[in-house]
Amino acid sequence: MRIQDVRTVGVVGCGLMGSGIAEICARAGFQVIVREVDETLLQKGLDRIRASMAKAVERGKLSAAEMEAAWGRIRGTLRMEDFADCDLVIEAVVEEMGTKKQVFAALDRICPPHAVLASNTSSLSITALGSATRRPEKVVGLHFFNPAPVMPLLEIVVGLQTAEETVALGRALGERLNKSVVLSKDRPGFIVNRLLIPYLLDAIRLLEEGVATMEDIDTAMRLGLNHPMGPFTLMDFVGLDTLLFIADAMFEELKDPRYAAPPLLRRMVAAGWLGRKSGRGFYTYS
Ligand code: 3HC
Repeated sequence: MRIQDVRTVGVVGCGLMGSGIAEICARAGFQVIVREVDETLLQKGLDRIRASMAKAVERGKLSAAEMEAAWGRIRGTLRMEDFADCDLVIEAVVEEMGTKKQVFAALDRICPPHAVLASNTSSLSITALGSATRRPEKVVGLHFFNPAPVMPLLEIVVGLQTAEETVALGRALGERLNKSVVLSKDRPGFIVNRLLIPYLLDAIRLLEEGVATMEDIDTAMRLGLNHPMGPFTLMDFVGLDTLLFIADAMFEELKDPRYAAPPLLRRMVAAGWLGRKSGRGFYTYS
């Protein structure tokens, strides 16, 4: 299948990443169906998309007419069966292998045989997700970065059984979405998270050792390296639950202590301090 043949894109999950992916696909002219598990989460996700597009209009990145046209191409649903007409589906549910495999098995049953099934996973194996389907050659990782409408990178993850044609479709999609594309083999964390996760976890270790305050660690990395956000601001932004899922998945496979979550991170997640989205993480948000 060529990118010109893709009309309808399905997005499974309308959380932080799913909503951003649905937004950029609709803005690029695709019909989009985005699915959540209940009405409240769906409404929250759709509201997030509208707010993000409104911000893009405010910043002069999008005209009001383009926003309304893109909005008109997005449909929310609670039913997996509504993916039956999709040419491409991008999964962005919780970073948990069991849940993702169930989603892939269901998509394989529901979607037409030509459809490509992609995952936005940050760390889990694309080959393993492909094994939950009868079309592993059409399963690929499309790893977008948060916020998806702003971050210019698309990391394509090539599973052991992913076909070249599927990778080519991913590349063409990246071009349509105005993203720069990099390719990674299916190894834990791919490129970005392989390097990012130990850095973030080390920032927590530095704090726990009392080397510096979190404000000073953030300022140091922001001003010393020109990073847009220091590590604590970035962890709150990514979500501490997501960070913990990724770290645990990477540690599980690599057994390298650099990926072992510091106890403070696990305690904060247990307390429901998930970062910006819950109002409290390392910092508090109003
Ligand atoms: N649509 C389109 N463009 C938008 C937009 C939207 N909804 N919202 C903002 N923008 C544009 C703005 O117009 C601006 O563009 P310009 O520089 O051309 O004017 C640019 O985005 C920056 O926007 P703002 O000025 O509103 O915001 P900030 O300057 O405060 O930047 C940020 C916000 C882009 C989030 C910046 O802080 C940043 O880059 N932070 C780091 C983000 C990051 O590292 N993300 C990756 C996380 S890791 C990940 O996702 C992987 C996972 O697996 C863990």
